[in-house]
Amino acid sequence: MSKKILITGASGFIASNFINSCNRKKYHIVGIDLVKPKYKFLRNFEFIKFDIAKKNNFKLLKKKKFDYVIHLAAFSKPSKAEKFSQKAINSNILGTKNIFDYVKEFSKNSKIFFFSGGALYNSTPKYLPMDENHPIDPYQNIYCFTKRSGENLCEDYIKHYNLKIIYFRLFNTFGPHQDEEFLIPSWIKKCKRKTNKLEILNGSIIRDFNYVENLINLLFMLMKNNKLNGGPFNVGSGKPVKLIDIANFIANYFGMQVKDLKNKNTFGSKKQFSSIQKIKNFSGWKPEISLRDGLIKTIKFYTK
Ligand SMILES: NC(=O)c1ccc[n+]([C@@H]2O[C@H](COP(=O)([O-])OP(=O)(O)OC[C@H]3O[C@@H](n4cnc5c(N)ncnc54)[C@H](O)[C@@H]3O)[C@@H](O)[C@H]2O)c1
Repeated sequence: MSKKILITGASGFIASNFINSCNRKKYHIVGIDLVKPKYKFLRNFEFIKFDIAKKNNFKLLKKKKFDYVIHLAAFSKPSKAEKFSQKAINSNILGTKNIFDYVKEFSKNSKIFFFSGGALYNSTPKYLPMDENHPIDPYQNIYCFTKRSGENLCEDYIKHYNLKIIYFRLFNTFGPHQDEEFLIPSWIKKCKRKTNKLEILNGSIIRDFNYVENLINLLFMLMKNNKLNGGPFNVGSGKPVKLIDIANFIANYFGMQVKDLKNKNTFGSKKQFSSIQKIKNFSGWKPEISLRDGLIKTIKFYTK
């Protein structure tokens, strides 16, 4: 019998990639989101438009049981969460609690995946690479506050209600279907327009970029793993990269050059990247798709 998956935030970036991969596998998927997905519906996919912050909506799930709940719905952009803080709190905290309550009541055996962020770590790193013991600062902004609250809910529902929850701290994930406001798709978009040079704010910043398929592979691996529970688990590439190197790669692909404005007042820390040793040790997973190959796949998606 095919396994049943509930996926929240079904129209978003990571969910679109996950659902695409399920095409080739035998699952029945129920996707929920505030907005309709842009991708084509699969035969084994049922979409329900609803707001997870509203408890009443959960009636629409008709007390169905799911083998897996992939909880991706969130206000995922820190700037948007700051601007619409009430909505961000409703979606990211209340919405998460509503999902966990649904599972507790109707689908107690579901395995839940929850996605927090590497953004939670102190913006001035104490050491690098950042492992899960690195100090966090949930009060940097509303987004971080809501993600930390989500993690606390995970711990609470594991401890008090015995739910099976694995939670991650994702570092920058990129790939097809990502909102074009994010760094990599925005640079690809600029290059597609063939402006004179690709202008970037500060190329010396160092970050960790993980291709989305690596994360999806981890999810499929963990769906089969009955031992792992709890968190947090960092998920990134585990490799530092300078933004100038990514910009040069994309610009070169389009036969263009980069102009680095070397702006010192850019947001966030200068250098931040993950240690992924913990998830590797617990699951045997490692990111198989390199930054270079991920960039090529992403460019091809946005230019097709
Ligand atoms: N992409 C990354 O690099 C990254 C990094 C760290 C954490 N995360 C987390 O991973 C998850 C997925 O990220 P993404 O990049 O796919 O985000 P995304 O913004 O592309 O997708 C989120 C989806 O959730 C939906 N949504 C928001 N509020 C909702 C609500 N109240 N009810 C129903 N649907 C709602 C949105 O409409 C959107 O389609 C998020 O929780 C995000 O915070 C992502």
